[in-house]
Amino acid sequence: MRKLVFTIYQQILRLYVATLRIKSTEIIHQIGASGNVGEVLKTRGFSRVLIITDSVPIGLGILADMLKGLKKSGIDYAIYDGVVPNPTILNIEEAKALYLKNRCQAIVAFGGGSVIDCAKMTGVVALTGKRVKRYDMMIPMIPKMAPLVAVPTTAGTGSEVTISAVITDEARRKKMAITDARLAPDVAVLDAALMTGLPKAITAATGIDALTHAVEAYVGNWKFKSTDAYAVKAVIQIFKYLERAYIDGGDMEARHEMAIGATYGGYAFRTAGVGYVHGIAHRLSELYGVPHGLANAIVLPHILKKSFPAIYKKLADLSKKAGLAGAGKTDWQIAEDFVGMIVALNDRLGIPKYADMILREDIPRIAARAIGEANKTYPVPDVMNKKEMAAFVATLMPPIN
Ligand SMILES: NC(=O)c1ccc[n+]([C@@H]2O[C@H](COP(=O)([O-])OP(=O)(O)OC[C@H]3O[C@@H](n4cnc5c(N)ncnc54)[C@H](O)[C@@H]3O)[C@@H](O)[C@H]2O)c1
Ligand SMILES: [Fe+2]
Repeated sequence: MRKLVFTIYQQILRLYVATLRIKSTEIIHQIGASGNVGEVLKTRGFSRVLIITDSVPIGLGILADMLKGLKKSGIDYAIYDGVVPNPTILNIEEAKALYLKNRCQAIVAFGGGSVIDCAKMTGVVALTGKRVKRYDMMIPMIPKMAPLVAVPTTAGTGSEVTISAVITDEARRKKMAITDARLAPDVAVLDAALMTGLPKAITAATGIDALTHAVEAYVGNWKFKSTDAYAVKAVIQIFKYLERAYIDGGDMEARHEMAIGATYGGYAFRTAGVGYVHGIAHRLSELYGVPHGLANAIVLPHILKKSFPAIYKKLADLSKKAGLAGAGKTDWQIAEDFVGMIVALNDRLGIPKYADMILREDIPRIAARAIGEANKTYPVPDVMNKKEMAAFVATLMPPIN
């Protein structure tokens, strides 16, 4: 009965999502394109911007080309470089203060998903004067956001085109997934030259995050024009190029193709939603500080196996469309092969099979929050109640020999 209620509720939410008017993000996909950000800003009429980033890109020196371009185009800038992985409300408050102090007109997010999400919400609270927590609700009704140019330096979250920002409320140790059509960036600059220094572990985890977006969007209960096509495109790119980028970080072609693959993943899930993998992964990040991509990568095969009877037809379909299915097999076998391919890819990328950080006493909290997030906001294809979720979370722990 409860499951039926959630399924009906998901369909009502789908009607709301279908009404969203999302601005189209200009995509610039070119090696070396970060050097053109100055021109992009000038063309759009901006002369003073806030750059939001973190200490790693600064340390790697990969902002240099962009800063040179800004100078050449006569753009003044301030830099906020305090963003932490799984960005916090404090990050946003600090960045907002700089934005207002320097009377900025736009924001450039230069970094991974953490930086881009921080930039999105900074752009909201700087213009509205409200607190971040005010927007932690199902339909946040965000009235405005500062113009945003996103320059992703990881190939994973797709935040450069999505309408979400995931922010950690440090006081409650809770990840808030805020979704609103206003959160789409104005421009996404995909420059593989910024990604060649990504360490293997981050390449792997962020790449499987992108795969998770595509798979969860495809097997979920919401379908929108083009979301399936983007999921297929993302799966093709990721299976073809992720391992290459992992083996040789300097493989520019693989980095270039992964950058757009992650963006396709973003397009796939921004309206079609994600599912339990994300609902659980957010708990592993908020409770144990597990990086987002890694948490997803561990959970993904387990959820696919758990929900297999409900989703195998869609998995088989996705696999066929992505050109991964063997000839003469049943849908069940094709779907099993597809899950097997994900398990094998994870293995080759050094992703652990189990979530050994989970403490047994945390399971009720993980389960409650996971279904609290997923059943209320994602079109999960195989609804679990709290008890079922708790039993499932226990299976993520390493087996006791
Ligand atoms: N808004 C969305 O649609 C969406 C979707 C999925 C995930 N997320 C959120 O995004 C965040 C995760 O983002 P992420 O996976 O991109 O990781 P991240 O932004 O947290 O970065 C991970 C680490 O990689 C480093 N790094 C970034 N670029 C680098 C580079 N080019 N070279 C070397 N190191 C680099 C960062 O400094 C950081 O230490 C989480 O908070 C997650 O919840 C948001
Ligand atoms: Fe994700």
